[in-house]
Amino acid sequence: MSSHFVLYLFLITIFHCFFFSNSHLKILLPTQLRRISSSVNCPAPDSSLYYQPVIGILSHPGDGASGRLSNATDASYLAASYVKFVEAGGARVVPLIYTEPWEILLKKLELVNGVLFTGGVANDGLYFEIVGRIFKKVLEKNDAGDYFPLYATCLGFELITMIVSEDNDILEDFAAENQASSLQFVENVNIKESVFQRFPPDLLKKLSTDCIVMQNHQYGISPVKLLGNQKLSSFFEILTTSNDQDDKVYVSTVRSRNYPVTGFQWHPEKNAFEWGSPSIPHTEDAIRTTQYAANYLVSEARKSLNRPVAQELLDNLIYNYRPTYCGYAGKGFDEVYIFE
Ligand SMILES: *[C@@H]1O[C@H](CO)[C@@H](O)[C@H](O)[C@H]1NC(C)=O
Repeated sequence: MSSHFVLYLFLITIFHCFFFSNSHLKILLPTQLRRISSSVNCPAPDSSLYYQPVIGILSHPGDGASGRLSNATDASYLAASYVKFVEAGGARVVPLIYTEPWEILLKKLELVNGVLFTGGVANDGLYFEIVGRIFKKVLEKNDAGDYFPLYATCLGFELITMIVSEDNDILEDFAAENQASSLQFVENVNIKESVFQRFPPDLLKKLSTDCIVMQNHQYGISPVKLLGNQKLSSFFEILTTSNDQDDKVYVSTVRSRNYPVTGFQWHPEKNAFEWGSPSIPHTEDAIRTTQYAANYLVSEARKSLNRPVAQELLDNLIYNYRPTYCGYAGKGFDEVYIFE
């Protein structure tokens, strides 16, 4: 035998002993493992954030189902897709029932870490008044040092456009009912700290080339009109525009320049959670769009300083209500919560 070969055997033996003796040491019973893993150093999450955020969603007049569920004049509803959207981001929901006395709504605003205004059709009366009061409260909370985000979807965005401009006739007609569209990013727009910041580059690109966001509106505002209105242009920054069926351009996503307020003319919640129209995109990219938009809303709410009283919160969570399945109609919302 050559001396090299002896050395080789020697090394192999050493290696074997080392390897196996070591791996013997590492075979532990599950009970032992648990003890070990509890001593493993898991870094604490960022203590400046709140990990039990709650979002208030304002109910909308009617039953959301053309009278199939309720004809009560005081009925209001929430499409369950908005609730699921919030839950998908890792938060819980308190319904803000718009017919409740303002003092109750104020108390409920103390139980939440952000607000969502839904889509719909109502643009006057008590509902419009309550949207205005809550919007003012959102700005006040932020001015007072709390971080209190608002997501305004479709009608919600249209209403805050009317409120900020102080012009109830500011909206224009668009032909964008029941259609999927792309999002055209404004040139040189800075998406940092916007809803789009966390979107991976491939998905951002597809948003501008593929029709993966759902539109369903007759009204909107053109970029020209928004930028030409001093109140609107100083409050909002346009992130994206979209084209309607007649190729007329409308503002499709905005954020506030000074507040954690995001406005969507489109419906981030529908892709994953509504099935009542064949136009709603359900591709993997469309579902990712819902998920990233939900993640952003909840990541904003985690920055809120509000720490709701536990029992009051539990008493008011959406889990105290039952949604009704109304997808059998083959149109409209799949599930709605009715408040009477
Ligand atoms: C509401 O009224 C319409 C029209 O009269 C009726 O068809 C419908 O069944 C009513 N809905 C309920 C829940 O009773």
